[in-house]
Amino acid sequence: MKVKVFRKEHFNAAHRLYNSNWDAEKNKTIFGKCNNPNYHGHNYDLTVEVEGEIDQETGYVIDIKILSDIVKEQVTDRFDHKNLNLDVPEFKDLNPTAENIAVVIWNLIREKLDSKFTLTIRLYETERNFVEYSGY
Ligand code: NI
Repeated sequence: MKVKVFRKEHFNAAHRLYNSNWDAEKNKTIFGKCNNPNYHGHNYDLTVEVEGEIDQETGYVIDIKILSDIVKEQVTDRFDHKNLNLDVPEFKDLNPTAENIAVVIWNLIREKLDSKFTLTIRLYETERNFVEYSGY
């Protein structure tokens, strides 16, 4: 009897999309506004999905407080009100696209989450643009 549990979080962060192997013109052509040299911000919405068996003693799949503490410690405390390119070491050499941010978040939460759970990350960069990553 598997059930999915969801935790929604939110963070604001700045970024700049940029490929150092390309010249300025190509970066501008490919990344458009997201290549702005002085960065720009997004209001990111994050949904963390954990799937597992219901524990017969607690009735929980996972104590949502434990999950929310993991997300806060691993993601929002580190990303919120930060410049992803400059302040978050994971993006030193990694373009902070929504896709790459989702993979980084998945890895950070996976480290702290019991391996018996399945983890999926959904990240909204805007209301209408979002990505999902499940670790494969
Ligand atoms: Ni952007």
